[in-house]
Amino acid sequence: MKQRLLVLSLLLIAGSAGASSTEKPEAMPEWESDKLELALAHANTGNPVEGKRLHHYLYCSACHGDNGESPSRNWPSLTGQKPDYVMKTLLDYKQSMRRDHYRKAFVMTRMAGLLNESQMADLAAYYAQQPAPAIPPSTNVKLAKQGAKLANRGDDKRGITACSACHGEHGESGVTPDTPALAGQTPEYFIQAMTMYKQGMRTSDVGGVMRMYSKSLTEAEIKALAHYYASLGSKAGAPKP
Ligand code: HEC
Ligand code: HEC
Repeated sequence: MKQRLLVLSLLLIAGSAGASSTEKPEAMPEWESDKLELALAHANTGNPVEGKRLHHYLYCSACHGDNGESPSRNWPSLTGQKPDYVMKTLLDYKQSMRRDHYRKAFVMTRMAGLLNESQMADLAAYYAQQPAPAIPPSTNVKLAKQGAKLANRGDDKRGITACSACHGEHGESGVTPDTPALAGQTPEYFIQAMTMYKQGMRTSDVGGVMRMYSKSLTEAEIKALAHYYASLGSKAGAPKP
C-alpha cells in the first residue's frame, strides 16, 4: 500500500511543472559487458501474470497505456519490447542514473526505484507478450519515406552503419537481446532518445554505440528516421498517406 501511495504522489508531481530537480546526479560508470550479462541473467525468467498485475497496481498503465501501448505521444510504448532491454533499462533508471540527466526521465528513476529485480523481470515478460504497437497517429508518411534509406543502408561516407543491422529489418530488434525494438515507437519519444544520445546525456548505450551514430545525424535525419520506425508499427490505426 505504501508503494502505491508513493506512486500516486509521483504521478501528481509529474503532472505539475515541478518535476525537474536542479541538482544533477553524478554520472555513473558505463556498463561493462560482463557486468551487464550478470545483471540480465534472470531477465527471461519473469512471470507475465505477475507483470500484468504490477503494471496496473503501480500505475505504469497510467502513462504507458492499458497493456503497455502508449496512448500518448509523450510516453514510449513498451509492448513487444525485448525483455532484456526492458530489464536493463529499468536497472539503468534505478541503479546508475545513466538515464537521469533529463527532465522526462525523472518519473522513471523514481518508479524504477520501487522495483526489485524479480519485479522488473515480471514486467518485462508481460510487455514482451503484448503485440507490437500500432502505427502512432502522429506518424508522417512522407517523412517516413525519407528515413527508410538511411535506416536500411546507412551512409558509408559518414561511417553510419545501417540501423537495421542491429535494430532488425522491420525494427523488431535483432542481433543482441538488449537491442530495443523500434517499430511503432512514438516519433516524439524516438527523437528525444536520439537527441539525448547526441548530446551525451543518455549514457546507457554499451560501448557508446548510439552516442556515436547519433552524432553524425542532422536533426532532419533524426526526425525522418523517427517517422520511418513509427511507420513500421502494426497496421491497425495507420494514418492515411
Ligand atoms: C508519469 C508517467 C509514467 C509512469 C507512471 C511510468 N512511466 Fe515509464 N516512462 C515514462 C516516460 C516519460 C519515459 C521516457 C523517459 C526517458 O526519456 O528516459 C518512460 C520510459 C520507460 C521505459 C523505457 C522505454 C524505452 O524504450 O527505453 C520503461 C521500460 C518504462 N518506462 C517502464 C515503466 C514501468 C514498469 C512503470 C511502472 C512501474 C512506468 N514505466 C511508469 C513515463 C512514465
Ligand atoms: C551496433 C548496433 C546498433 C546500430 C548500428 C544502431 N543501434 Fe540504435 N541502439 C542499439 C542498442 C544496443 C541500443 C540500446 C542502448 C541503450 O540501452 O541505451 C540502441 C538504442 C536506440 C534507440 C533508443 C530506443 C529506446 O527505446 O529508448 C534509438 C531511438 C535507436 N537506437 C535508433 C537507432 C538509429 C536511428 C540507428 C541508425 C542511424 C541506430 N539506432 C543504429 C544498437 C544499435
